[in-house]
Amino acid sequence: MKKDVRSVISILDLTREEIESLMDTADEIERDPEAFSEVCRHKQLATLFFEPSTRTRLSFESAMLSLGGSVLGFSSANSSSASKGESVADTFEVVSNYADIIATRHPKEGAAYVGALHSSVPVVNAGDGGHFHPTQTLADLLTIRRKKGRLNDLCIGICGDLKYGRTVHSLIEAMQRYSGISYVLISPEELRLPGYMTDKLKAEGAEYVETADLEASMPKLDVLYMTRIQKERFTDEAEYQRLKDSYILTPDKLSSAKKDLCIMHPLPRVNEISVKVDEDERACYFYETYCGKQMRMALIMFLLGLTKDGAREVPKAPAKMEPKKVLRDVISCKNPACISSTEQELPQVFELADEEKHEYRCIYCDSLVRYQ
Ligand code: NCD
Repeated sequence: MKKDVRSVISILDLTREEIESLMDTADEIERDPEAFSEVCRHKQLATLFFEPSTRTRLSFESAMLSLGGSVLGFSSANSSSASKGESVADTFEVVSNYADIIATRHPKEGAAYVGALHSSVPVVNAGDGGHFHPTQTLADLLTIRRKKGRLNDLCIGICGDLKYGRTVHSLIEAMQRYSGISYVLISPEELRLPGYMTDKLKAEGAEYVETADLEASMPKLDVLYMTRIQKERFTDEAEYQRLKDSYILTPDKLSSAKKDLCIMHPLPRVNEISVKVDEDERACYFYETYCGKQMRMALIMFLLGLTKDGAREVPKAPAKMEPKKVLRDVISCKNPACISSTEQELPQVFELADEEKHEYRCIYCDSLVRYQ
């Protein structure tokens, strides 16, 4: 990252304490929004969205406007110079001269990371392909904390597209920092959690089961996180057609659920939650969007070093473990959705992930490659 600028590409770029303090700020914002209405005066947020979005982009923009700042940006690759062939690196070099902070979404995994390498202002990843979506996780965490009163000791069911669902990957990374968490990972065989995520869960000794059966799992869940089957990430349309209706949550399927279950969904939904469930007081998915704006307000203030009582220093990013071994331009990433497959002259960089299995992790998209 340039000049030690603090960016949020993965949820692990924020410490647990920082996330908790963001949630406290969000609670303060909820109590007294007026007190925050001038905090970002004269500051600009750029939203660089190379992929469609309703909630995330509008939520970021609404957050900045409610802080008294202004917004600029684009909402599709077609309306940016990406359509002329401009690289992500160049776009971020340029836009960081116009804005104080950038929120970005891109179909390629690792794009926000590459953007941050070339930006002189903080970059927030608002979704990179099927990889990560840390600010949705901030919304999810606040929702769980407010609805359940805790982030420890929860059985979390995650259902649907666990392979391409980026919100799922970020949520699991965040919940791994809490104790007493168990996961029921509910998906068709083809859409199970990617290897880099299950490897991590195993290495951390997480308690999880993988199953295809939503109804059998229902009674033990404290949280049920439903997800959309990510049509746009499939390379095989026939496979999407076969899997798209895998799970549809209806009121009758909830009959065996806990009375205080928290039903979540990052939205947009297609048909995976029947609208009849909306009337159930356990439905929290629209409430998540309400929490999301407050968390984005808190995050923008944090990254810009602003509080309602004036400026403060932005803390240094949490230290990362030094990789045991780095390979540069020795092997190449096999993931067609990785930013390294399209970005000009981007070095292929891998870090040793598992010495015994001879596995290396792509620094952009996290996918694993064997090399001996
Ligand atoms: C999610 C996303 O874009 O990953 N939406 C969102 O930002 N709330 C989920 C999805 O598209 O299915």
